[in-house]
Amino acid sequence: MAPAGPAFAPVFAALHPQVFPHEPWDEPSFATLLAQPGVLGFIDPRGGFLLLRQVLDEAEILTIGATQPRRGIASALLREGLAALRARGVTALFLEVAARNAPARALYAGFGFVQAGLRRRYYTDGDDALTLRLEIG
Ligand SMILES: CC(C)(COP(=O)(O)OP(=O)(O)OC[C@H]1O[C@@H](n2cnc3c(N)ncnc32)[C@H](O)[C@@H]1OP(=O)(O)O)[C@@H](O)C(=O)NCCC(=O)NCCS
Repeated sequence: MAPAGPAFAPVFAALHPQVFPHEPWDEPSFATLLAQPGVLGFIDPRGGFLLLRQVLDEAEILTIGATQPRRGIASALLREGLAALRARGVTALFLEVAARNAPARALYAGFGFVQAGLRRRYYTDGDDALTLRLEIG
């Protein structure tokens, strides 16, 4: 899976609202992000997307989603993303996840992410945000 550049903004914009109906990101937002240095996009043709941002030797997950649950889509995207980050010399990957988001937390735990921080009542629904970190060096 080659990283998906700005030409894939329509694909990201079509998939994102299916996974995040209450906070969809539009096509211009994806086009802008995908054109930024350090931003890496990945699409799974089964219906999944991953957006990473690298800054020096660290990176963060900007967004990840799968339109079909439990088919291994997010895992495949993460494996691709991690390989790309390793190849670029990244040693740590961070993300934020809602404490109540059990599927995502299970996904990240399976990859070995550990909690690095807590932002209480970070989300508008009152949920806490966990900052997770994965050493990938
Ligand atoms: C979280 C999400 C990305 C997982 O995508 P996915 O393609 O279904 O994940 P995978 O099929 O690769 O699952 C990998 C592992 O994650 C865990 N997992 C995934 N979905 C789960 C669920 N609903 N309940 C419990 N564990 C789950 C399991 O350990 C799973 O392995 P298994 O199926 O062999 O048991 C998907 O549910 C999603 O898009 N959610 C909405 C968007 C979101 O919350 N994104 C993350 C924001 S931080």
